[in-house]
Formats: sequence, structure tokens, C-alpha cells
Amino acid sequence: MTLFYLVIKCYPSTAVSVNSQPPLITLPSVEYYKNIMTIHLLSTLASIANTIDMINPRLNLHHVRTAFIASHIARLVDFSPAQQRKTVLAALVHDIGGLNEQSRLEPLNYLDDEDNNHALIGSEMLSWIPLFRPLSKIVRFHHTHWGNGLGYYAEGEQVPEESHLLFFADRLDVLYCQNRTEHSKHSGKALLKILDTGVKTLYKEEYINAFRTLSSNEHFWSVMTSCNYQDYIKEINGVNNDVISLHNLRDIALLLSFIIDQFSQQIPWHSIAVGRIAGFLAARIEMSTAQTLRVEIGGLLHNIYSLDHRVSHEHTSTAKKIQKKTYPIEGIDDIFEWVLIQNSTALDKLSAKKHEPEVVLIAIARQVVDALNITKTEEESLDLLVKRNQNDEMHDFTMSLVAQYSSQIIQIYQATAEEVTELMNRIEQLTNSA
Ligand SMILES: [Fe+2]
Ligand SMILES: [Fe+2]
Repeated sequence: MTLFYLVIKCYPSTAVSVNSQPPLITLPSVEYYKNIMTIHLLSTLASIANTIDMINPRLNLHHVRTAFIASHIARLVDFSPAQQRKTVLAALVHDIGGLNEQSRLEPLNYLDDEDNNHALIGSEMLSWIPLFRPLSKIVRFHHTHWGNGLGYYAEGEQVPEESHLLFFADRLDVLYCQNRTEHSKHSGKALLKILDTGVKTLYKEEYINAFRTLSSNEHFWSVMTSCNYQDYIKEINGVNNDVISLHNLRDIALLLSFIIDQFSQQIPWHSIAVGRIAGFLAARIEMSTAQTLRVEIGGLLHNIYSLDHRVSHEHTSTAKKIQKKTYPIEGIDDIFEWVLIQNSTALDKLSAKKHEPEVVLIAIARQVVDALNITKTEEESLDLLVKRNQNDEMHDFTMSLVAQYSSQIIQIYQATAEEVTELMNRIEQLTNSA
């Protein structure tokens, strides 16, 4: 199968031979891998923040704007570079725990609703991802009031300084959206007037003083009027050179796929099961570890466009429209291309005759998960699926793998369903404990 896969896959011409004999197989150059694997943390998080904000237009750019404000205030109050970095990253994902329309919108009221547990749920979700664990506590306390210094502690724990600053930046953005005018000076004055009423009770005084300084900065206000998320991102310093691995990206995609499934009409573990089964099949046809991870990420994110409530989801005609309105992550254009094809072509038309093997693998994983979700026994469902012959070499070969590894595939599906159900129960507990 390795040979079959290598024949299908076209690599760039800058290939190196594996020995001095005429090469039987060729590998892409190191430079090629360097180019395709540079994934920047900041742009990845910004893209995810915006994708999450797509769920409701009122949230539009809230996360990137909050991060932009937080980066300025953190610098003005002399946060260390490490603190600045953590504050900005936490700001980009701080409302991730709003898993339904109501809990997502409540934080947009300036006087925040104490009953909303989105900060606790968000912190729980971030702690699943090793890369995000350092942000978890910051997000957990991002609605803690300063309370004349009492907010130094909450629930018996020391509240990170970053949480207080994030709370201030977050409220500032909410106020800005409610009071924006064409004249920045007026906006600044109006905001300061309201913020001043919360001095010491809601926020540390030094944050308000920092904003007083910042509000005379014309450039700050000109960026704040922008509707392009990249204008905010390029102004955030200190995180620009951070890159992440494909493993990190897979973990982030896992978190995102959980959110996608909470908002979609599918079963709550649909995307995670598709991603894992697609990755499993990619490994069985001996794709490289990197390519297997990319296929898994593609499967995890295949339904990402369902979050965008601004476009209809008819096939083909909306594909270009969808592409324009989303925020592709730099360095993984090919994965987004596979995802786009999943959304623009009917599932049973995704054969290898027209498409790359990665597209076919994700499509077959989707068919497998759909089959496992119907009421027959899992073995019967898979059996029926693999008997549908398409007379397509790649498709039929992959289906024969599905038959061969059916017990492992069913195991992956069941373990995923169990894991997600457990997470949902935990989140429900947290929601009810508010
Ligand atoms: Fe919040
Ligand atoms: Fe927020």
C-alpha cells in the first residue's frame, strides 16, 4: 500500500534520493517540510477565536480586540514579557466555555451575570490541552472583581494578576462596542467615565490609569475601528514568533471539534470520531506521521463551517463564499482545502478519481461514523457500508481496510463516545453548580 499511496501523492520536484541508485521512491526535501509545517501560535489562536465568534455576529472580533487591548494595558502596567504573553493568549480564548447561545452572549453585558459559569467551563476545557494548561487558571478567574483587594484570592486560591487584567480588557471591549462613536476622543472619555465607577471595586486603579494614557493614542483608536482581525494581530507583540507542532495543532483541533459538535445537528462526538477514524485509516495505509496528523486534523475540523451562521450550507454554490468568510490557519492551507471539499461535494461523490487520498479518507471516516450511528449493531452497519462498491481503487481499498480493522474502528468510536459523554456530564455539573 505504501507504493500505492506514493504513486497517488504528488510531491514537489525538489526531491532527494535515498541512496546512490536510481531512486525507487523519492522524499520531499527538508526545506519542503519546513515550509509546510510552520504554524504560528498567534495566528492559529486568532483564527480559532474568530471562528468561534462566527457563532454569533454580536461576538464579532471580541476575542482579538480583547487580546489587542490586553497587550497594550499589560505593557503599560509593566507586566513581565511572560505575563504579557499569557494574558494575550488567554484573551484570545477566554470565552471558549460559552457552549450555547445564551452563555456565549451573557458576557457581552457590561454588568456581567454572576450566574454564568462560562469561565469555569472554559478553564476546564483548556486544561484538557497540555499547551493551554497554563492559561486555564487565568480564564477560570477572568470575571473575578478586584473588590478593593479581596479579589486577590477567590475560592481559596490566589487569582492570577493576568485574570484581573483580562477582566478589565474584556469589559473595556464590551463597553467599547456599546458606546463606539466616530470620534475616538469621545469614545475614550465616555468609556473612562463608566470605568471610573468601577475603580477598586471591579478593577485595579492602575489599569484605569493605564487606559487613561492609552486613550490619547490615536493609533490605538484607529486599529479599534478595523474590521480585519489581522490588523489587531500584527499589533500584538511578544508572541509573534511562537510556533506550534502538528501535535499541538491536533490537540487544539480536538477542542475546537468538541465546540463544533455542541452547536451542530450531529451527535456530540461526531467530529472527534471522524478525525480519529480518518487518522487511524491514514496510519493503516502507511502515510507519514505528519500526514496522518494532518488527516486527523482535517477530520476533526471537517464540519467547522457549520459554526458560521452567516452563510447557508448548500453544496458547491456556497463553497467560495464560505472560504472568503472564514479565517484559514497559516501553514495548513491543504487541510482547509480538504475540509472545503467535504463541504462543497456530496459525500458519496468524494472518490479518489477526482480527489486526493486525504479527502477520500476523511469522507470514508464520515461514512463510517454515520453508519455506526444508526440503530443496527455496529458490525452490521459497517458490513453494509463496505459492501457498497464504488469501482474506485482508493475507495474500495480503504473500505477493505474498514472491513479488516472493523473491531478497532468500532472500539475507537465507542471510546470516543464514552469520553465525550463524560466531558459533557462534567460540563453539565459545572453549569448546574452556578
Ligand atoms: Fe467572559
Ligand atoms: Fe469576553
